[in-house]
Amino acid sequence: MKTIFTLIYFVGISIQVLAQDFEPNYEEDKIPEYQLPDLLRMENGHLITNKRQWSNRRRAELVEIFENEIYGKSPVWDGQISSKVILENKDYLNGEATRKVVKLTLKRGEKSLDFNLLVFYPNSGKQVPAFLGLNFYGNHTISSDEQVAVPDAWIRNNEKIGSFNNKASEKGRGQRIANWPYEEILTRGYGLVTMYYGEIDPDYEDGFKDGVHALYSERKREPNSWASIAGWAWGLSRVMDFLEGEDWIDNKKVAVLGHSRLGKAALWAGATDERFAMVISNNSGCGGAALSRRAYGETVGRMIEVIPYWFSDSFKVYYKRENDLPVDQHQLLALMAPRPLYVASGAEDKWADPKGEFLSCVAASPVYKLFGKVGMPATVLPPLDQPVMGTIGYHIRSGGHGLLPYDWQQYLDFADMHF
Ligand code: GCU
Repeated sequence: MKTIFTLIYFVGISIQVLAQDFEPNYEEDKIPEYQLPDLLRMENGHLITNKRQWSNRRRAELVEIFENEIYGKSPVWDGQISSKVILENKDYLNGEATRKVVKLTLKRGEKSLDFNLLVFYPNSGKQVPAFLGLNFYGNHTISSDEQVAVPDAWIRNNEKIGSFNNKASEKGRGQRIANWPYEEILTRGYGLVTMYYGEIDPDYEDGFKDGVHALYSERKREPNSWASIAGWAWGLSRVMDFLEGEDWIDNKKVAVLGHSRLGKAALWAGATDERFAMVISNNSGCGGAALSRRAYGETVGRMIEVIPYWFSDSFKVYYKRENDLPVDQHQLLALMAPRPLYVASGAEDKWADPKGEFLSCVAASPVYKLFGKVGMPATVLPPLDQPVMGTIGYHIRSGGHGLLPYDWQQYLDFADMHF
């Protein structure tokens, strides 16, 4: 009996400790003291003073650190991609636009994987700039048209969006159109390409056996092998491979965009693939745009505890040790330079640390300066709903976590300004 009580006592204590451990901090004055790793100093101590040194030396060094310590290193693509148009409507929106579903097949040896793209572009006859972003619940959620198929890949359960037993259903149809306002995007002269992220890599701990990892199953996993965020980013690059050959798109003007975990993936895609001419992070938070060292809202420790498979195994070393990370996320943002970068926060989305996202933009700006550009023009957090746009753009809008029409309006304005 005594042992049972002792056991109950210790289980109780550990549950309490765990709960306390992940009680997020939302108070500015409880942020630990920290010093950000130096953006412009090489690991050997040399100071970077011009854009050539940045591009030839420091940039590559930082990419390697992020690969080895945080996201993992993705393989070089050595397979073939074929495409098949599944649906095509050239007379969409009263003839103003074309809408297609294109199936890409990635083939590597005996293995293959399909990506289904939902594509919209204006029928202007000119090559147009475009946004590319992954969606959370399937292409059918961005179309009221039953011809756009419901994905059969694994999906997160969400009653509202009609996914049960990890399967999507018709119930989700059209429910995310407001988050992907394609009519406005098209009217403003841009194309839009999206696909369901679970077709790249399903979002659960699968031992890296499914999705894109399966294409490379012969490889032994190393501490710095790619995990899910790197997988989603890598998938974005494969979509870009395909888009480069499309005649409707101006492939020098493709903005990669993502919300939340997919914002983390969009940033990693922008960092590893410079073909993305603009990068947009919407509420990406910890492991995305926000500074890890602030430990405000979501923390590195909490991510390692709850969603370790998003990151390389080597990242686990930093469990509750964000101060020991050799890099912080302002250095990830700096990898976009000199390309335009937009970071957006939601005021009530404290979990993603809006201020930490903003400060990260400020701290990334010295690299833009090396290129003769103004990165983030503000040094204090701008008021609500008042975007600031240099070569880095930022806004903190009213409301919480989400990719909203307001966010899109700013992205369209920012793209008008830079493209
Ligand atoms: C969770 C996770 C975040 C992530 C978010 C999302 O809240 O902790 O890191 O950004 O999901 O993707 O919606």
